[in-house]
Amino acid sequence: MAVKRPRIEGYAVISREGTIATADGCFPDQIKIPADHQFYQDSVDRAAAVANGRHSAEGGEKEKLRHRLLLTRRVTRLVPDPDNAKVILWNPAATPFEEAWARLGLEEGTLAVVGGTDVFGLFLTIGYDAFHLTRTDASVPGGRPVFPGVGTVGTVEEVMARRGMVLADTRTLDPSVNCRVESWVPKP
Ligand SMILES: NC(=O)c1ccc[n+]([C@@H]2O[C@H](COP(=O)([O-])OP(=O)(O)OC[C@H]3O[C@@H](n4cnc5c(N)ncnc54)[C@H](OP(=O)(O)O)[C@@H]3O)[C@@H](O)[C@H]2O)c1
Repeated sequence: MAVKRPRIEGYAVISREGTIATADGCFPDQIKIPADHQFYQDSVDRAAAVANGRHSAEGGEKEKLRHRLLLTRRVTRLVPDPDNAKVILWNPAATPFEEAWARLGLEEGTLAVVGGTDVFGLFLTIGYDAFHLTRTDASVPGGRPVFPGVGTVGTVEEVMARRGMVLADTRTLDPSVNCRVESWVPKP
């Protein structure tokens, strides 16, 4: 029997330029907002599994306990991580998403996609059920964009709109620093 596709939700915190990291791949202090961190950790806690590139796991004590698709070009087939049986090493150029998800052996639930840039972009193609975009007023110019093309081809909202995503909800996480989270969903 075919395995049911999970609900797919993305999570990113961005600077006002639409960047998630500095040019050299560091997570900048300016966009570390405690209220967003709490929102993010609570959200990944509710997920059945996480998908991330090699430098973007969510951190925290529970990281090692979570089921995970770890994206890497170092494999050409699905391979369990030798250090953690809950983690499957996945190269999407070699194996379709459905097969990778099925290998995790989960009946259902949400897959939380947590970056970085190429991973967020890949799942725009696979299809998000929701993308939670935390916006901050901090400036991180010249950094890595949340999606490929942000800052060169268009703004964050233009890149998402081009993929059929619409803004469904905005809520404030910390008014003192004007930190808010936008939830984008596929156009009905
Ligand atoms: N602000 C935010 O919300 C947010 C979110 C996520 C990350 N970040 C920050 O961004 C920085 C990391 O960025 P990063 O660009 O290094 O991202 P990354 O996606 O975590 O790591 C890149 C690596 O992941 C693998 N990968 C990514 N896309 C792939 C694909 N389509 N197919 C196969 N493998 C793929 C590759 O691993 P191999 O080299 O093994 O092939 C690649 O070298 C960190 O500072 C992190 O904290 C911020």
